[in-house]
Amino acid sequence: MSQDIKAPYEFGVYEDEDDEDDDVPSNPSAEPPLAALIELRLSRRAALTGLAATAAAGALGSGFLTRMGRARAGTSSLAFREVAHDMTTGVQTAPGYSAQVLIRWGDKVVAGAPAFDVANQSAAAQEKQFGYNNDFMAYMPLPLGSDNAENGLLCVSHEYTNPHLMWPAGAKKGSFDRLTEAQMEVEMAAHGHSVIEVKKRGGAWSVVADSRYNRRFTALGTEMRLSGPAAGHDRLKTNADPSGTKVIGTINNCAGGTTPWGTVLIAEENFHYYFRGDVEKTGEARNYKRYGLDRKKRWGWAKHHDRFNVEKEPNEPNRFGWVVEIDPYDPASTPVKRTALGRFKHECATTVVNPDGRLTVYSGDDQRFDYLYKFVTEGRFDPGNRAANRDLLDSGTLYAAKFAADGTMTWLPLVFGVGPLTPANGFHSQADVSIETRHAADLLGATPMDRPEDVDTNPVNGRTYVMCTNNTKRKADQVDAANPRAKNRHGHVIELIPPGAGKQADHTATAYRWEFFLLGGNPANPDDGAMYLGEVSKDGWLSTPDNCTFDDKGRIWITTDGQPKSGIADSVYGADTAGPGRGLTRCFFNAPTGAEICGPTFTPDYRTLFVAIQHPGDDKGSAFETPSTRWPDFAEGMPPRPSVVAITKDDGGEIGT
Ligand code: FEO
Ligand code: CA
Ligand code: CA
Repeated sequence: MSQDIKAPYEFGVYEDEDDEDDDVPSNPSAEPPLAALIELRLSRRAALTGLAATAAAGALGSGFLTRMGRARAGTSSLAFREVAHDMTTGVQTAPGYSAQVLIRWGDKVVAGAPAFDVANQSAAAQEKQFGYNNDFMAYMPLPLGSDNAENGLLCVSHEYTNPHLMWPAGAKKGSFDRLTEAQMEVEMAAHGHSVIEVKKRGGAWSVVADSRYNRRFTALGTEMRLSGPAAGHDRLKTNADPSGTKVIGTINNCAGGTTPWGTVLIAEENFHYYFRGDVEKTGEARNYKRYGLDRKKRWGWAKHHDRFNVEKEPNEPNRFGWVVEIDPYDPASTPVKRTALGRFKHECATTVVNPDGRLTVYSGDDQRFDYLYKFVTEGRFDPGNRAANRDLLDSGTLYAAKFAADGTMTWLPLVFGVGPLTPANGFHSQADVSIETRHAADLLGATPMDRPEDVDTNPVNGRTYVMCTNNTKRKADQVDAANPRAKNRHGHVIELIPPGAGKQADHTATAYRWEFFLLGGNPANPDDGAMYLGEVSKDGWLSTPDNCTFDDKGRIWITTDGQPKSGIADSVYGADTAGPGRGLTRCFFNAPTGAEICGPTFTPDYRTLFVAIQHPGDDKGSAFETPSTRWPDFAEGMPPRPSVVAITKDDGGEIGT
């Protein structure tokens, strides 16, 4: 492999600021974005130098403070003692809490799965075992519709693989071409999703072996159906699927969501990694360039599977980049790619039921200078008839977000025939809008964001929180009201405020207000330009917010992806969203070195918090033989293994109380 082909893992941290491909902006309209928006009450000077800490807020003027809510001092309702910022080979929990490893890469999922043998991996075994790089998780109680907090289905996505930590030398850095066909098929089988039945007995969680629900979905052999406006369109047809309605597999499933009818939504993020070939030979060059398929090609799957070679199967990339709906309660169900929700690097798909019964699905497009989206169903959720909701996600309106400096925001509809989305601009149907969602949002003038990742709604106050992980490529003349820092290393959290509040919040509206919840970074370092709504402790500041969830008290729990860049482990933080502790993040849990933390999810009693430890040991220079950690086994010869951890309070109480 040539030197310029850099694998994500060569840089130690996936998706980090030095990753030359994933986060290289591919949005041509990002330069310069929103000059009009820089009617900021935030001064240009402040943007250039960083906002400094809370004390500097006054200098930014009252408008900025409005965006931040009101700065205040106070204490958090979160009663745990913070874990110190640190970097170690294992996990660390706040005092009085314990972390139990529930399942690791390679552990048995499906009945008949062989025991994990790192020295003899095969695709056939991996298809029955827990996949690699666990990310999104959802706990779905058993039976369906119950609030059983001690027996349920844990649904876990497997985003991608780290071959240099999976196999010895031959698979080390820059080695996508050095992997054998058999190893690549292990990779394909290690992608996708797992459903496992889990049970809590005597305070400890375990996987129910041979449960009828246990299931693997892979990139290698799981057939999925396409539905919605793009299904069956010529641009989705391939040699293997002349109908344009069936796809094998799902890839790069990052954050996700659940529906109120008991299905999970998994989101295909960096699908461009997996394709090779010259996009100019496809008839889809504009489309594919906007998704980065013309950049350095990375994965070697195309060497052995023609469908990943765009010169052989020019439409295959149009069959990825979707939100996939899985019914974990029906082990015979076929996953469905819902094209009405648009095609982009979907980071998540989280839902809210509106007062009128329609469903809103939020999704970030995680790339520098890409957009925030929502989808509003045409039909209404029927809580009494599960079958009636089955295809609710096939009809509705997709919107992209545009933020204004006055604290308002507008949702721009991506509807064929409306505004610029016409044949003159290459859109001939809603299918085209679904397939080229990014281009459609470019034409509408959506706001280019600092990598919008997880987006989730607080069930108590009805507001929606957007994790913007970072964007070190934003230049000083590109800052705008919603992305106020140049070279944004630490990311920020935006709070979207729809009309109404709590359960009455109307997420179907096209006009919202917005505020900042926090600007990440260390307040002790003025160059960070961090901003919190009160004084965070030396351990409470955070960087690179990525995933989040909420507890029943409306407190937000944020996980990070990139704090090792600041010399500390990635962590879980909790914060109030109201009262004197609003926005005061407190450090609750640290990941092992090299790992990011994904998929935080509570059981319905809020006594267990599951987190996914992704890419442990993925530090610079770390490799299979000499990993930076061997967590969680710490056994000679065993590499680190991505694993799911169950965090509980030692006295059995609710997390955070
Ligand atoms: Fe897969 Fe955007 O993190
Ligand atoms: Ca993520
Ligand atoms: Ca991430």
